[in-house]
Amino acid sequence: MRRWLALLAAAGALAGCERTMKDMYEQPKLGPDAASPLWADGKGSRPPPPGSVPIAMGDLAKTSSGRRGREELVARAAAQAASAAPAADIALLRRGQGRFDIYCAPCHSIVGDGDGMIARRGFPHPPSFHQARLRDAPDRHFFDVITQGYGVMPPYADRVTPQDRWAIVAYIRALQLSQAAPPAAAGASTPAPSLGASSPETS
Ligand code: HEC
Repeated sequence: MRRWLALLAAAGALAGCERTMKDMYEQPKLGPDAASPLWADGKGSRPPPPGSVPIAMGDLAKTSSGRRGREELVARAAAQAASAAPAADIALLRRGQGRFDIYCAPCHSIVGDGDGMIARRGFPHPPSFHQARLRDAPDRHFFDVITQGYGVMPPYADRVTPQDRWAIVAYIRALQLSQAAPPAAAGASTPAPSLGASSPETS
């Protein structure tokens, strides 16, 4: 009998819990777009403090919590610290081509000569990747420009992961080679694998 009483008491306590939770859901509150006389700007939600970084933007928004696992963080840190692009294989180049066509080509053009559509419409023309200075620049320079931006070019660190930055760098190297390959490098024997039609993946 005493056991039954204890169970009954526990069930009662749990029901209380459930009710408390519900009260928290249903408490009076202001929705994101609700108006409120509480603040001078008449809005219920407060603007994020200056310098806030959205945690679930771009690539991170694909995950349910906006966060990634420990392994991903280690891989990112390694890519972030590397000084040169990983050895290029066709998968890396394809990935780089997709990311480049999405994030860089609008200004730099799909061949990297700086004559992209946004530049044609009035944005300052970026330099061509095929000039000697940028052909000779180290891989890391391109990585850093993507991460930090450069002059009027905005940074892309919030939407291009460190791994994807290296894929883009590898692809830019391929573009540079495509425009300045010495005739001997054209090699009659083994045809280069085709990258196929430009088909930027969606993620
Ligand atoms: C909105 C247009 C725009 C986009 C998009 C853009 N860039 Fe740029 N980029 C520029 C402009 C303009 C410059 C020249 C900036 C300056 O000198 O003030 C530039 C400069 C550069 C430079 C040359 C830096 C140097 O040493 O002179 C590199 C490398 C570069 N961008 C790479 C990239 C890559 C890679 C991407 C894609 C991830 C990209 N850019 C996306 C506009 C853009």
